[in-house]
Amino acid sequence: DILGERLNSAGVDLSDPLVIGPLQARLAELAETPWRAEPTFLGEEEGETAPITMPHDLTSTVGTRRDATEQEVDAAFARAELIQPGWDALGGEKRALLLEEAAKLFEDHTDEFLSLCQREAGKTLLDGVAEVREAVDFLRYYASEARRQFEHPLTLPGPTGEENTLCMHGRGVFATISPWNFPLAIFTGMASAALAAGNAVIAKPAEQTPLIAALAVKLCHEAGIPPEALQLLPGAGEVGQLITADPRLAGVAFTGSTETARLINQALAGRDGPIATLIAETGGQNAMIVDSSALPEQVVRDVLASAFQSAGQRCSALRVLYLQDDVADEMLEMIRGGFEALHVGDPALLSTDVGPVIDPDAQAALERHVARRQQNDRTVWRLDLDPSTAKGCFVAPTIIELDSILDLKRENFGPVLHVVRYAAEDLGQVIADINATGYGLTLGLHSRIAATRRFVQARAKVGNFYVNRNQIGAIVESQPFGGEGLSGTGPKAGGPHYLARFATERVTCIDT
Ligand code: NAD
Ligand code: ALA
Repeated sequence: DILGERLNSAGVDLSDPLVIGPLQARLAELAETPWRAEPTFLGEEEGETAPITMPHDLTSTVGTRRDATEQEVDAAFARAELIQPGWDALGGEKRALLLEEAAKLFEDHTDEFLSLCQREAGKTLLDGVAEVREAVDFLRYYASEARRQFEHPLTLPGPTGEENTLCMHGRGVFATISPWNFPLAIFTGMASAALAAGNAVIAKPAEQTPLIAALAVKLCHEAGIPPEALQLLPGAGEVGQLITADPRLAGVAFTGSTETARLINQALAGRDGPIATLIAETGGQNAMIVDSSALPEQVVRDVLASAFQSAGQRCSALRVLYLQDDVADEMLEMIRGGFEALHVGDPALLSTDVGPVIDPDAQAALERHVARRQQNDRTVWRLDLDPSTAKGCFVAPTIIELDSILDLKRENFGPVLHVVRYAAEDLGQVIADINATGYGLTLGLHSRIAATRRFVQARAKVGNFYVNRNQIGAIVESQPFGGEGLSGTGPKAGGPHYLARFATERVTCIDT
């Protein structure tokens, strides 16, 4: 490649007919595969088995999930405790080589991952490719961070006659509990970070998307990561509760809703054992501010991508668009033009912009929200859904005008955009309102005025601030990602401080 050294994963060029034809044929073949997710080591007792259906066609089954039993959770901890000291002692370099081998296998199995992204999680091909690339980038980046931080002790200054060093070690057994909306990237990111830092990992994927996690774990094992060091325990929240109640747990990396993060925090505080680390990456109430100096065509492109790509099921997605009042009507008309051109439907079709939401519960919650707002607010635009969507969990993309972001009491996780008008002199109040939600994940700004950017940047309490672009799709290493307040504890995934939170530091002082 051009740089001589590939820094990010290769991805798939979906604009190339020579690529897309064979890929579609391969995806059709893979649709026949009966996938299965089960605990890495099966116990004697059978756990419950649940079918996994396609979000866009609930009559089609993709595979089955076999839940971990209480005994299997217990046995997984025993195995993890046994292997962890040896895994830690391997050091950063050897662990990095194994993670890099896993990255290579992930790229070799891109087609299977794309098939599962589509069929299990309802992702479009574009989103599927981004998902595989991000997972591969996490593996390679945390491998490089393992080398940087975990291979050699840091020599510290000290008085003459003393040798002072600091070493980073794994904390012990780390659990990763992940969401369905990035079933590969976030699952892989959290597990590979915990492994890179020298922990043994018990990985519980979301109940909606265990199949893609099972393939990821299988490939990690094929790469040489010992199965005892990375164990998959499928199941719903109950399995998560068993894991977080265990006194052998040294830490949890969680990504999901703010409500579940609170429950996990309480569970960790209430049990015996070490004081566990909690890394929680949670929800958002993300805004974008557009002033009268913004370029309208760019705003339309970035609003539609931020609010409706991935059917709005990104923690980073735009929920509340602030339009300066003197350009609001013109901007809204242009946004409406692009909005009405969105294609909603089968994620297998290249023409689809907006696929399904994850399940009937998510669909019902979003419909309740839209119905409530239709009674209270001014303008509601909804797209009409094609009858072909009736078999799946589709929510028509919707735009609603509100008086204030504070009218929203919770995150609405889907293709629903809210619009608020503001006067230029109230910009300070707009930021105060956004901060008052308590969330602090992403914020977008479209403005050509540097003083406005500095004003917003100085006041907004958000983890990721995007100017004159969309506010989704953070890139590993370039845009470390994560929020504050109700949006999470930090440190940022894909950033230079992430692995340190999975580690413990040991200092040795030798009188020479
Ligand atoms: P969720 O909180 O319902 O579930 C997340 C995980 O927690 C699942 O694996 C689930 O089985 C498990 N779980 C549920 N109850 C549990 C309990 N009591 N104890 C232990 N584990 C339990 O979230 P979700 O619906 O899967 O994901 C969507 C949410 O994730 C949204 O709020 C979104 O904003 C957030 N998210 C945040 C980020 C980020 O980086 N900040 C990224 C992606 C998604
Ligand atoms: N990292 C994901 C994004 O930025 C959540 O959209």
